[in-house]
Amino acid sequence: MGRKKVDIKKLLQSMTLKEKIGQLVQLAPFLFKDSAKGIVTGPMEWLGIKDSDVWNAGSVLGTAGAEETIEIQKMYLERNQKKIPLMFMADIIHGYRTIFPIPLALGCTWDEKLVEKAARVSAIEASAGGVHVTFSPMVDLVRDPRWGRVMESTGEDPYLNSVMARAFVRGYQGDDISKEGNIASCVKHFAAYGAVEGGREYNTVDISERMLREFYLPAYKAAIDEGCKMVMTSFNTVNSIPSSGNKWLLRGILRGEWGFDGVTISDWGAIKELIPHGVAEDEKEAAEKAIKAGADIDMMTGCYAKNLEKLVKEGKVDEKLIDEAVYRILKLKEELGLFENPFKGADKEKEKQIVLCDEHRRIAREVAAASVVLLKNQDVLPFDKNIRKLAIIGPYSDEHAILGPWSWQGKWEESVSLKEGIANKIGESKVLVAKGCEIEGESDSQFKKSLRQALKAANEADIIVLALGEHYDMSGEARSRAFITLPGRQEELAREIIKLGKPTVVVLFNGRPLEIRELYNIAPAILEAWFPGTEGGNAIADILFGDKNPSAKLTMSFPYTVGQIPVYYNHFNTGRPKPSEDSTERFCSHYIDIPNAPLLPFGFGLSYTEFKYSKVKLDKKVLTQDSVIKASVKVKNVGRYPGDEIVQLYIRDMVASVVRPVKELKGFKKIHLEVGEEKEVVFEIREEMLRFHNENMEYVSEKGKFQLMIGPNSKDVQTVEFELR
Ligand code: GLC
Repeated sequence: MGRKKVDIKKLLQSMTLKEKIGQLVQLAPFLFKDSAKGIVTGPMEWLGIKDSDVWNAGSVLGTAGAEETIEIQKMYLERNQKKIPLMFMADIIHGYRTIFPIPLALGCTWDEKLVEKAARVSAIEASAGGVHVTFSPMVDLVRDPRWGRVMESTGEDPYLNSVMARAFVRGYQGDDISKEGNIASCVKHFAAYGAVEGGREYNTVDISERMLREFYLPAYKAAIDEGCKMVMTSFNTVNSIPSSGNKWLLRGILRGEWGFDGVTISDWGAIKELIPHGVAEDEKEAAEKAIKAGADIDMMTGCYAKNLEKLVKEGKVDEKLIDEAVYRILKLKEELGLFENPFKGADKEKEKQIVLCDEHRRIAREVAAASVVLLKNQDVLPFDKNIRKLAIIGPYSDEHAILGPWSWQGKWEESVSLKEGIANKIGESKVLVAKGCEIEGESDSQFKKSLRQALKAANEADIIVLALGEHYDMSGEARSRAFITLPGRQEELAREIIKLGKPTVVVLFNGRPLEIRELYNIAPAILEAWFPGTEGGNAIADILFGDKNPSAKLTMSFPYTVGQIPVYYNHFNTGRPKPSEDSTERFCSHYIDIPNAPLLPFGFGLSYTEFKYSKVKLDKKVLTQDSVIKASVKVKNVGRYPGDEIVQLYIRDMVASVVRPVKELKGFKKIHLEVGEEKEVVFEIREEMLRFHNENMEYVSEKGKFQLMIGPNSKDVQTVEFELR
């Protein structure tokens, strides 16, 4: 039986201006609970809102589970005149209670099915917790690991970010967001928040329109094309106008060009921030600019609540603009089925049963193992389970804070530490643990003592795992770092342990590409585990002992040094390209003290087995508007383990009306090969794959020569040519 349709237009016509404005306001849960108790909190005063504003508000930001959601919805519906249900939104970024690896790790799976699965589990758990909308996927393209929020992105490539954006939206929304277990998604942060200058949080973004359209916008559009229901505006400027007040961005591109008819919401406080940005005199002007620009919901400021009524009465804002925004919000509530069931999905018992259930943990473990990148392996891995003694040394040896930032309701004590994961695999008695050092901040004497204990454990062991990393709070929002090395004395610890010459693997827990040049040279093996989530320890142990063969590949370059940033694979050639890494040419684009190439390139990741590529073949050399070129390559597993290989397709437009990247990812296929097995991988090349924004900003392809590259990463590729006629 279909859902009872609500006549939104009629409801809208019945609402007073104040009631309509209320729908444009989003408040945090405590304001409802305090208000119900008659407490006027500091934030309520700071926001300058009144009790009546609270019971008029349209949505809630971040609730702590079914119990609280039900409580607030009940209180609200008792007090709200029109009985319009609240919409509950939250930051379910990589899991609700079962926490998955951070999105930068999820991107490294290059596996949209797995990412969709992770989003599906997140939605099922969140829905039982009473969440209706998640502020995810975050699809900001990133090139600067100094920025703390690179952990939240899937990396530096628009194509891969677009594939992952779609997977997240599918996983969250399912086929019908009114169904329990499905939640609406909100793509963010529109737009180009990842391009903050210097990687410094909340800093200026200043990029050309072509860069915006070529690199930064595609993934937002992909999410919207996949049916994403909401868009969050970003804190930063675009073309010198903050996104939340940027008409060109919101009404021009988002709604005008892309036809987005869903809801827009500002980021936290972003409408009021038009004042410090210097484009609004006060909250009243900020409200006027934002509503005219097309920001529907005002997250956690009083700008709309306090000023829109006046602005309409003064004739400065057309009430039609408010009606349009309110209509979109009511329509989303209707699509979510909230008018029928304001408590949609919220179920304390069900929430308790399904969060962290065995199936969800199993999926979290599978996804985490698929996101761990093998960066180096000099015949150390995989370990034999029958080893006598293994020492785990480092601050992450037995650490449960491996969920990473934005891990919503996830609890550290529910995660599996690396030590627990290894002990689960080979038995507690074989495992020695010594912290060796803190992540940072210990005294010399403390370090000397810890180092002695670590060396003792290392001397007693046959193999060693060095568990190192960043503090989890060195990543995420407002966590930019100028130095992106391993903090504290971890590298010193690693040097001392590696000196012993025993089979040693470094496992990294971090939220960004780090500067690991020294460590990379001396460590016999390195696994990049990122923040692997609830099942991290088990997943890493699966990799260490070969129950899972690593297949993940980097989606963000590891810089040779922080001085090299921004470094990314899809760069331009310049007029004086460096002829080769070992060139001594003086007058070319280069540094006198470091290479141009990153330490580790986009798409890089090793396996325990070896994949051999045949010569790349094209079935024709000329492509026309309506033809297809088939590019094929045979990949054979010539190693000792079954494994997955991610075959990557890159294309270069050799000459065009504007400069074009030296290569752009245009496709990838993840294939499984048993030992000795060979598969043919075929990519279809079409004219539309070659389109870009030409000198007149038209999105077209241009005839001429192209290079097609196929390989296991963005550096080691075979190149063939074709022509577009
Ligand atoms: C934060 C973040 C945004 C998040 C929002 C609500 O400031 O920028 O990503 O969704 O506030 O928590």
